[in-house]
Amino acid sequence: MSSSAPTTAATVILDAYSSYLARVSELIARAKTHFERRDWHAVQADSAQRLGLYNLAVQQGLQRLRDLLGQALVARPTWAGLRAEYAPLVESRDDAELAETFFNSFTRRLFHTIGVDPAIEFVSASADAPRFGPPWGHTLTIDAAGRPLDQVFRDALDAFPFAPGYDDADGAAADLATALEQRFPGATVRAIEFARPVFYRGKGAYIVGRAHCAHGDEPLLLALTNPSGRIAVDALLTTADEVSVVFSFARSYFLVAMDRPREMVDYLRGIMPRKPVSELWNALGFNKHGKTELYRSLLQHLATTRDRFAVAPGQRGMVMAVFTLPGFDVVFKVIRDRFEPPKTVTHDEVRQKYRLVFRHDRAGRLVDAQEFEHLAFDRDRFEPALLEQLLASCSERVRLDGDRVVVTHLYTERRLRPLDIYLREAGPVAAREAVIEYGHALRDLAATNVFPGDMLLKNFGVSRHGRLIFYDYDELCTLAECRFRELPAPRDAAAEGAAEAWFYVGERDIFPEEFRNFLGLSGDLLDAFLSHHRELLGVAFWHRMQELHAGGDVLDIYPYRSARRLRPTPRRPREADARNPNRGNEP
Ligand SMILES: Nc1ncnc2c1ncn2[C@@H]1O[C@H](COP(=O)(O)OP(=O)(O)O)[C@@H](O)[C@H]1O
Ligand SMILES: [Mg+2]
Repeated sequence: MSSSAPTTAATVILDAYSSYLARVSELIARAKTHFERRDWHAVQADSAQRLGLYNLAVQQGLQRLRDLLGQALVARPTWAGLRAEYAPLVESRDDAELAETFFNSFTRRLFHTIGVDPAIEFVSASADAPRFGPPWGHTLTIDAAGRPLDQVFRDALDAFPFAPGYDDADGAAADLATALEQRFPGATVRAIEFARPVFYRGKGAYIVGRAHCAHGDEPLLLALTNPSGRIAVDALLTTADEVSVVFSFARSYFLVAMDRPREMVDYLRGIMPRKPVSELWNALGFNKHGKTELYRSLLQHLATTRDRFAVAPGQRGMVMAVFTLPGFDVVFKVIRDRFEPPKTVTHDEVRQKYRLVFRHDRAGRLVDAQEFEHLAFDRDRFEPALLEQLLASCSERVRLDGDRVVVTHLYTERRLRPLDIYLREAGPVAAREAVIEYGHALRDLAATNVFPGDMLLKNFGVSRHGRLIFYDYDELCTLAECRFRELPAPRDAAAEGAAEAWFYVGERDIFPEEFRNFLGLSGDLLDAFLSHHRELLGVAFWHRMQELHAGGDVLDIYPYRSARRLRPTPRRPREADARNPNRGNEP
């Protein structure tokens, strides 16, 4: 925009968008330095700060518009005109779809539009048509024909330099070559290719791409860590499923620098074809646009199937009414009007918990939730039993408007198989694995300073990769908020049989010995749990975790199996490794 261009309302919105992008880029540019310096607190702070930048930019933009337009700000014709003015400003941008979603955030905030309004919103992305002229140039290809693989990987590492250097780059390249040969015995590798931007998250950095082999392409992901001040290549992943777990909806968003985000999404889809596009946008940190994409895929699903909303399989929630569409992998969660005892939380507190999870490190164990307002669906798309339930118990948020059902507030989440159902259906081997995974989920949550609160099996779900993920947030809290106590010895025989606890139990008092009763496991499954996780039933483990967090430790959580690590035993054992609760963690 030239400096002589008049300040119009459309340019105010575009300016707000540009300043949002500039702030995000600034944060992302720092991620590399934080990783190089092992400044994990800075990574955490920046990740949390990034999540707030979008709303901040929209708020600031709205304030400027209010000054510029006065009363006209809230008139629909203003926005029909603005949309027409804004469209040509952004249509040739490399991130047009994001700029359009940004515009929609303004109108949705002002008009509380029920459903979507094509006159004042961008409905289907203008980005649907391919529009990139020059080639992307954001991948890097290293020729491997006739060359030893370790040299190829050595070149790859050189192409991704870090200030402190790699810890034994030659050794790491040799390890990578050996690992690749083991995964694809006898394969002819013609070239390896990587997206140039490095993906940063938590204590990890990830380089993503693929191997071009004679038999076809294979995914490649190099997981980098910084355990001791020099960069280590910690793991090599070579399947779409493994890479998909790193990009999971149960993890926090990456910090990654991109000029053409949609091309990055397309590139990642090529590597993980089963992952929904909306989740890829989320993983790249464009969660508002991910939400737009999710909504579009929902409309698409409704338009192309006869699926009806029905009560989600599993135990009925006391706080949430949960429903789903059989052919669509998402659940819809509406807060009920009233919660039965013993629930004492308020609606606001429930929403606070969801916000806490949004900002917190989700550790691969907390499902990501998208918040929607003012949705409307045709009444006949609801199973009558579900509609009746929603109107009766969620009347503050669900109402009928003629033939439409209007939902003023709900969360969406990826649909998982509730663990209680899963254990009934699964064979003995799968059930055993799930129970062990459940213990690892509790450990990972503890490692990120989270106590799930309501840790019953029904509140965990199993993903298609067999991972255990928690979704019931109303009692979730940090470990610091909990008081882990040993059960006092009963004073006498009469007290032992007493129905009420005879000792004082505070709201945040937690007795790990009692977990055993909560779990409702018996026989082989209980044995499996105890053989791996007995320590979770004692206070010592929880006190140790509390101390580590109080001392400011940021613990390791690896988004891959230890078998995928190139050198499973640390080369230089350090005190921090010895204390790490997640040694041997199997995601
Ligand atoms: N992401 C999900 N995938 C599949 N089922 C879910 C999901 N979230 C909730 N459910 C189902 O809905 C029920 C209630 O949801 P939950 O989040 O546990 O709320 P409440 O706090 O009311 O128990 C769960 O017991 C489970 O059966
Ligand atoms: Mg529940």
